[in-house]
Amino acid sequence: MLTDSYGRVATDLRVSLTDRCNLRCAYCMPPEGLDWLPAPEVLTGDEMSRLIGIGVRALGIREVRFTGGEPLLRRDLASIIAATAALSPRPDISLTTNGIGLVRRAAALREAGLDRINVSLDTLRPEVFRKLTRRDRLSDVLSGLAAAASAGLTPVKVNAVLMRDLNDDEAPGLLRYCLEHGYELRFIEQMPLDAQHGWKRTEMITAGEIFESLSREFTLTDDSARERGAAPAETFLVDGGPARVGVIASVTRPFCGACDRVRLTADGQIRNCLFARAESDLRSLLRSGAPDEDIAARWRAAVASKLPGHGINDPTFLQPDRPMSAIGG
Ligand code: 5AD
Ligand code: SF4
Repeated sequence: MLTDSYGRVATDLRVSLTDRCNLRCAYCMPPEGLDWLPAPEVLTGDEMSRLIGIGVRALGIREVRFTGGEPLLRRDLASIIAATAALSPRPDISLTTNGIGLVRRAAALREAGLDRINVSLDTLRPEVFRKLTRRDRLSDVLSGLAAAASAGLTPVKVNAVLMRDLNDDEAPGLLRYCLEHGYELRFIEQMPLDAQHGWKRTEMITAGEIFESLSREFTLTDDSARERGAAPAETFLVDGGPARVGVIASVTRPFCGACDRVRLTADGQIRNCLFARAESDLRSLLRSGAPDEDIAARWRAAVASKLPGHGINDPTFLQPDRPMSAIGG
């Protein structure tokens, strides 16, 4: 098991399959993009699958979420999913994507063993989408969402990040859209993970503001009947239910004490937290021909040293060196 010194157990593995992306979301990347990882440093599909296998068979991983950058940019995504689905015990398999290209791939991913999907959607206005992501692809995202639902990748979840003076008036509209289409919407507070270090505590839209904005059009009741567990979203019933909306208050109400996640980057580094300042190198072990036990031992040590919290609210907080796109959400 992957246990840390505060008694938390990591059972949820987030795998970043690439740091590349075809969008340039303002809360993530500068318009010109980033220096991507050099191809030889990125793990091959077989290398990824071997590490995931060690996590599942030897270390108690029960849930695998594929992220990026944009994971759909990996042409071998379906085969990595299939290899994960073939593991025993079979983990729960999900994908976080911006939805571009999903229209063509949703059915094949489902076929390969993908269980669920989260699609990022921050606005329903094409001109705001263009400003926020610096690309004109809103209709691709919306058709990708529809394709995910018809492929049975349900419940389809939508992730939204609100930014002041950009899309901060869209919470009710996004919720209405998701209710109409049967998607589960979750708002995520903007975190200091952008490559350009533009995040400001005073600028971010808080969970409290999101709740207020939604409450002007909907009746939200605390969904306390539902056990939150390690799930980061606080959920509310919308107009009495059964539909729900979630708010992930990573900054204003951190949930680090219940965290059950561990992260593997596209270049084979273990990070015990999104905000960790240290990484453990599994790639060099892997490529030097180390046996599974040695890799598992380094992985265990990486989780053992996990800090109690992310410290975003401490005056001494330092943003991690890697941006979100190179860590995975
Ligand atoms: N703060 C909050 N959420 C972010 N995401 C990307 N960058 C940030 C950030 N700085 C979201 C994406 C995606 C998920 C992986 O995380 O929109 O939905
Ligand atoms: Fe791409 Fe996701 Fe970053 Fe947007 S937030 S630029 S979709 S990696």
